[in-house]
Parts: sequence; structure tokens; C-alpha cells
Amino acid sequence: MEFRRLGKTDTYIPILGFGTWEIGGRFEPDYSKDKEAVEIIRLAIKKGMKLIDTAEIYGGGHAEEIVGEAVKEFDRNEVFIATKVWSSNLRYNDVLKALERSLKRLGLEYVDLYQIHWPNPGIPLRETMKAMEKLVLEGKTRYIGVSNFNIKDLEDAMSYLSHVDIVSNQVLYNVIDKAIEDEILPFCKKNNITVIAYRPLAKGLIVREPYKSKLESIGMNYGRTAVQVALNWVLRHENVVALVKTMDKQHLEEILGSIGWSMRKEDYDKISKMF
Ligand SMILES: NC(=O)c1ccc[n+]([C@@H]2O[C@H](COP(=O)([O-])OP(=O)(O)OC[C@H]3O[C@@H](n4cnc5c(N)ncnc54)[C@H](OP(=O)(O)O)[C@@H]3O)[C@@H](O)[C@H]2O)c1
Repeated sequence: MEFRRLGKTDTYIPILGFGTWEIGGRFEPDYSKDKEAVEIIRLAIKKGMKLIDTAEIYGGGHAEEIVGEAVKEFDRNEVFIATKVWSSNLRYNDVLKALERSLKRLGLEYVDLYQIHWPNPGIPLRETMKAMEKLVLEGKTRYIGVSNFNIKDLEDAMSYLSHVDIVSNQVLYNVIDKAIEDEILPFCKKNNITVIAYRPLAKGLIVREPYKSKLESIGMNYGRTAVQVALNWVLRHENVVALVKTMDKQHLEEILGSIGWSMRKEDYDKISKMF
């Protein structure tokens, strides 16, 4: 596994993290695939994907329970657990209570990264950030981050913090949707905020046409698949790590083959203009 520095901290996180959206249900719990889910998360961790991303909203909380079950056989400091507070829980006391509930479901004393899932213009961000900061000072989370924040949201959030920094912004980024390249990616780079790219396989769309053949034509130069090319492309920037979700062991192997090599600049540029 390769690692990248988290924000301005002295912590390094794996370049490939494991995502848990639709693991344990969508917005309601689904217990039917718990055993397989725990197994695949444990396998991913053993293979080096020790960054696990979840959220209180995933599976109505059940994704966190699955993650908790999966990680209990590892040393606590061996895994990096990130979860998120939902946008309706951003009042000061609601943030504090939401993390308590998440910790209970995860079976942990603290998380490594606590993120605001989406901004909520109806709740003053100052209030939310003060609560997030308190959680770091109390040791309930090691770091705080945000998700789906634009530059204005980020600047505001940063201005409300006195003791800690925002270490990450989790945003949509893949070969098809490159919107963050205009402003968010450069802003995060300049401010030492790690970009955690979500949906890097465009939810599996890149293994369908017309994307698949085009990515494969580049992959042929390196003996790599469309998935591997797409992930390698996302991970080109030094302040980006990616979260991938899979329930399939073969897919996991394929995902791991996306790192440890890099495509030539001309191929990178070709993909940048491709879709
Ligand atoms: N902050 C946010 O608002 C936000 C939003 C969306 C996602 N996220 C996070 O980012 C994570 C990743 O995003 P995502 O789950 O939406 O999408 P994704 O990782 O881009 O794609 C997941 C889909 O790709 C398939 N897949 C994985 N590996 C594959 C392979 N080698 N070949 C073919 N298909 C493959 C998976 O199916 P199989 O299971 O069959 O492999 C799954 O259907 C989420 O799980 C979540 O943690 C955050």
C-alpha cells in the first residue's frame, strides 16, 4: 500500500480506502449480507486498505455496526476509521450526540476522522464547527473533515476553528466527473487539505461502454484494466486518496492493482480530455 499525508498532520493514510455506502443497506438496515460484508472489510484491511469510510446515515446506522464488527479483530491503531454526521444533525448538541451514537455502533472509544457529510445552509456553520472542535479536544475524534463542501463553505468552516484544522474534504471525483479540478482541488492543495475522492469508479459506470473500451485502450500499454486505469488516474494528484466500495473479492484484487505504477503523462492527459 502507498500512503499520503493527511492534511497538515503527521498521520499518513492509505491511498486506497474502503467505502461502505450500500453495505448493510441504503438508508434502512439490511442484515442479509452481514457475514459477507464483515469478511470483505477484513480482507481489504489485511490487503492494506486500512482506511474505512462510513457514515451514520449508511444503512440507517447498520454500516457502522458492520465496520465495528469487522475491525474488532485488529489493533485499534492499525485501522483508520472515518465516519460522518448527517446534515440534519449539525446543531451543536446534535453533533455531539451523533458521534456518541456512532461510537456505540462502531464499538470504539474514538474515531480517526469525523466528517460533516453535507453542508446545511439552515444551520449556522459556526455552531457545527465549534462542536466538531470540541470532539477533537475531548479525544472523541482524532481529526475533523468535511464532505461536499465548496470553497465558500470551506473558508467559512476554517474561520470558525481556533484550535484544530480541517484535514480533509470528501468529494466526488472520477474520470467522468472532474468538476473539483476547477477550484476545489487547487484550493485544497494550497491549504493542505486532503481530498478524499468518493465514487472513483463512478459507481461501476466506468466498466460499461463507452468508458470501458476507451480506458482499456490506455490500460493495454501497462497490462491494466479499465478499473485500474480509472483509479490510477484519480490518484495522480499528491493530495488525493480514493474510497472504493466492493462486495466482491475479485474486484478487490483488481482495485489493488490500480496502485504501484503510474501512467505516462500523455496517457493521463488523454483521459483528462476523454469524457
Ligand atoms: N461523502 C459522500 O457524499 C459520498 C457519496 C458517495 C460515496 N461516498 C463514499 O465513497 C465510497 C465509494 O463510492 P461508491 O460506493 O458510491 O462508488 P464506487 O466505489 O465508485 O463504485 C462502487 C461500485 O463499483 C463496483 N465495483 C467495485 N470494484 C469493481 C470492479 N473491480 N469491477 C467492476 N465493478 C466494481 C461495486 O460493485 P461490487 O460490490 O459488485 O464490486 C459497486 O457497485 C462509498 O462507499 C462511500 O464510502 C461518499
